[in-house]
Amino acid sequence: MYDMILKGGTCATPSGIFKTDVAIKDGKVAHIGDLSADQAEQVMDVTGLHVLPGVIDSQVHFREPGLEHKEDLSTGTAGAALGGVTAVFEMPNTKPSTITAQDMADKCRRAKNRVWTDIAFFIGAAAENVENLAMLERQQGVSGVKIFMGSSTGSLLVRDDATLASVLASGNRRVAVHCEDEDRLEERFELVKDGAHVSMHSVWRDEQTAFLATQRLLRIAKGVKRRVHVLHVTTAEEMELLPQYKDIATVECTPQHLTLNDEAYHTIGSRAQMNPPIRAQRHVDALWQAINQGVVDCIGSDHAPHTLEEKSKDYPASPAGMTGVQTLVPIMLNHVNNGKLSLERFVDLTSAGPSRIYNVAAKGRIAKGYDADFTIVDLKAERTITDNWIASRSGWTPYDGMKVKGWPMSTIIRGNVVMHEGELIGDPVGEAVRFAEVL
Ligand code: DOR
Repeated sequence: MYDMILKGGTCATPSGIFKTDVAIKDGKVAHIGDLSADQAEQVMDVTGLHVLPGVIDSQVHFREPGLEHKEDLSTGTAGAALGGVTAVFEMPNTKPSTITAQDMADKCRRAKNRVWTDIAFFIGAAAENVENLAMLERQQGVSGVKIFMGSSTGSLLVRDDATLASVLASGNRRVAVHCEDEDRLEERFELVKDGAHVSMHSVWRDEQTAFLATQRLLRIAKGVKRRVHVLHVTTAEEMELLPQYKDIATVECTPQHLTLNDEAYHTIGSRAQMNPPIRAQRHVDALWQAINQGVVDCIGSDHAPHTLEEKSKDYPASPAGMTGVQTLVPIMLNHVNNGKLSLERFVDLTSAGPSRIYNVAAKGRIAKGYDADFTIVDLKAERTITDNWIASRSGWTPYDGMKVKGWPMSTIIRGNVVMHEGELIGDPVGEAVRFAEVL
């Protein structure tokens, strides 16, 4: 007797995508195969739907503590579950920044009984916690260390080579890095400081700003023998460099950098403003080439909400960042339907990839003994993404009005159906993600 059977769906397993039933017992995958003669407390008919391993969004900013007017752990994870995401890794640029064991314990405490998806938190790297990073990164519930090489929202910054080298030399797990060169950002700020059109965002924070930081990171990481994960890569030039560093560096792309180009500054204004910036089409094309050549290891949303009121300030006072956790799955499935990537590659980038990068325990594939996390999608469903649908406290999306094909129908986390046909179900059952490096 199983707890649940997913019946009649097309299932994305490590052995391929095929029609099969899946049984769940005690929150784990118990059997994959024909279960027509078996019994379960609950049988979900998923005929006509695709059963994918739970999508892991390994870059979100949920703003709690300190900035709850933009988002909190409850609204952020509600958006994730509604968008078909089953686990999130949350970033440390909250208020205060997450840089001590106490800050981390506080976030974990806040998450208890309030989050709709499984969750882990990043520790921010700063000059004042370098000594403790090796200890901090091994705490339960920690996805790793995050470095900001260029300043963005919040005060976290690791600017110079010496501090960067000492951060990278402290600890062992893969370090996630935002690569923009702070010196160049400061030098060029005069281009926008007295006010400018928001389209100047990608001129101020240009290709070279991203490339220089990524190049410095790779050189220093190689020198101190530390694995890194280069977040939200945006340029053709970085995508040329990164394949030479596969021994130490993994690569993330965001849906927005694969979907929007610099025309967006003229159509949606500061909604398109984020760091690193949305760029010209030649870069978008290079990112797609990198996706299809295997350079990119995962897709993360960089969900970074700000209120529309904040966004309506005159550039450059308008803050950088856009929502994305709820739209990651539909936007990327739309690309699958448009032939830009295969469903197999989607699964590799959104489940297997994050799991491999961060050494997640028991998540990232549909396999016996793994957590029963599923993103169940209708590849044929056509919907329009609207601000109204967005659960984030900030209540907007850069894709408002966009028609897409491919939609998340149910979200299942360790055997609990937390979202079904657009409704959250039951209570928030999210728990800490486990990592093989912390056990
Ligand atoms: O645009 C961004 N917004 N990029 C970041 O790196 C941070 C984020 C935020 O937290 O607002």
